[in-house]
Amino acid sequence: MSFAGKTALITGAARGIGFAIASRLAVQGAHVAIVDINGHGADAAAKRIGPDAMAVTADVTKPADVERAVQAPVERWGRLDIVVNNAGITGRTAPLWELTDEDWHRVIACDLTSVFLVSRAAVRVMLEARRGRIINIASIAGKEGNPTLVPYSTAKAGVIGFTKALAKELAMRGILVHAVAPAVIGTELLNQVSKETVDYMVAKIPMGRVGTPEEVAALVSWLASDECSFTTGAVHDLSGGRATY
Ligand SMILES: NC(=O)c1ccc[n+]([C@@H]2O[C@H](COP(=O)([O-])OP(=O)(O)OC[C@H]3O[C@@H](n4cnc5c(N)ncnc54)[C@H](O)[C@@H]3O)[C@@H](O)[C@H]2O)c1
Repeated sequence: MSFAGKTALITGAARGIGFAIASRLAVQGAHVAIVDINGHGADAAAKRIGPDAMAVTADVTKPADVERAVQAPVERWGRLDIVVNNAGITGRTAPLWELTDEDWHRVIACDLTSVFLVSRAAVRVMLEARRGRIINIASIAGKEGNPTLVPYSTAKAGVIGFTKALAKELAMRGILVHAVAPAVIGTELLNQVSKETVDYMVAKIPMGRVGTPEEVAALVSWLASDECSFTTGAVHDLSGGRATY
């Protein structure tokens, strides 16, 4: 699979799963825009990937930042073929009755509203070209629900519903929309979650291990490619067997 001549934008790509996706797409020939709220991290990630990468400092919860971030690769490379909505946070690990309004709104903004903002801006570009791929990194939490992660599970379920609805709107317009639902993946995100909750989630994985960012990147690469041509609106699990539906 080659992405030569294509341009991809990946949110939250300064590290973790997003960085693995950006690296893989770049190795396969794509120009990649690394969008992250962590400007230093985004710059360092783009440097590691090389001249085919650009860094964009942006907060995906802010509409003006999102518009600027989506235009940046279009201005530099003249097109936008692939968007991966990957930026996300878990929020505080706590039962519902201990959460503040702020806990709720922060996670919904970062994990769900951002997907709306970035996709809307990207689709406006992609509709003109009548081609594109949008890949939303959801979570197994969105299918099953994880206790102590109610806002996160809700946001990720929202991402799944968003994916299904948008895919139908775009099915005849050359733009495919996918969701990916990983179980536990070994990244720094796990430092945001209590040990009890991580143990609970890992214990539910029949393969008995956590996944790697590279395993997520491999699936995303196929979903972003021309070889993926007759699937849209589906949720693709990467859960070591946790979800079999
Ligand atoms: N690691 C897991 O176990 C796991 C499992 C299922 C789903 N996911 C999802 O995968 C995605 C990536 O997770 P990860 O494990 O690589 O996390 P991570 O914490 O390692 O990386 C997340 C990146 O997103 C960036 N980011 C956070 N808020 C942002 C904002 N408002 N605007 C722009 N960038 C922002 C961070 O700076 C960071 O670089 C997330 O959506 C997460 O929910 C992760």
